[in-house]
Amino acid sequence: MYYETLKKISTELSDKPRGILAADESTGTIKKRFDLINLESNFENRRKYRELLFSTPDLGNFISGVILFDETIKQKDKNGKSFCQLLKDNNIHVGIKVDAGAKNLIGSNEEKITEGLDNLNDRMQEYAQLGATFAKWRAVIEITKTNPSNYCIELNSHALARYAKICQHNNIVPIVEPEVLMDGDHDIQKCYEVTSATLDSLFKNLKFQNVYLEGILLKPNMVISGLKCAKQANVNEVAKKTIDCLKNNVPEEVPGVVFLSGGQSDQKATEHLNEMNKFQGLSWKLSFSYGRALQQSVLYKWKGDDNNFNEAQKELLKRSKLNSMATEGEYLLEME
Ligand code: 13P
Repeated sequence: MYYETLKKISTELSDKPRGILAADESTGTIKKRFDLINLESNFENRRKYRELLFSTPDLGNFISGVILFDETIKQKDKNGKSFCQLLKDNNIHVGIKVDAGAKNLIGSNEEKITEGLDNLNDRMQEYAQLGATFAKWRAVIEITKTNPSNYCIELNSHALARYAKICQHNNIVPIVEPEVLMDGDHDIQKCYEVTSATLDSLFKNLKFQNVYLEGILLKPNMVISGLKCAKQANVNEVAKKTIDCLKNNVPEEVPGVVFLSGGQSDQKATEHLNEMNKFQGLSWKLSFSYGRALQQSVLYKWKGDDNNFNEAQKELLKRSKLNSMATEGEYLLEME
């Protein structure tokens, strides 16, 4: 394990004004996205869509890394250039989702545990050879009347730390993603408490497994009201509570926090990030690692039609640029 290599990659990934594009939808998830535009999810359509994203001119000005799925990291553009090479030529790091998804947690009531530790070291070596410099593992924590349990939080934290250790052993920077879901009618305070407990458990496990904190990135949810909560917290509250939660739980050594969008609208995800970046004196950089908030509007512009290719690329560049401005606290609503 090379500490300097890990630190260099995590710094490059989180340095302002760039952020990460999460394009690592599994075959099941991308089908759900394509269903929205009535497009069949087959190998070629998925390849075409990813080529549209990755060949966007000047994307590297705003995007430091792209997270890929196993199928995508092995695909090529129409000229036969591998996606990995295409991204690297644009000064963009290649990332890979390595978890095998959230499965039912035996011993708990309707909670999930993320699987994928089996053979992870071998798979990691293969991905490193393909050109990956960072990876992602997502744990899912759901808020209901009775959940989450400590059991669910602890087991997911343990797996995240084990994954992080294996990544670093292969000189790959782990993105550590404990996502407290927005689903539900809970208020922002409940989200604060659960996110706080989750981050506390996560960093205890990362320390216990001796993970090098300068060589990770944290990908948390923002502290936000549940989607069905009658009283939605405003942008200032979200920013303030999220920063408070991070200050109380995230060690200073962590170089960057790259938020997921989690089902927020494109605009809200940008507004929240922008507001947080107006806070002074934070030890970690705050940026984005958005999936839906970068891609939703792109998909609707494209609709699977080659004639819309350029317009869809322009849309991706626009959202990437707006979020890039939000990493500096310089985004304004009228830029929409
Ligand atoms: P969203 O931004 O759509 O939440 O996706 C980010 C991600 O990578 C989830 O694992």
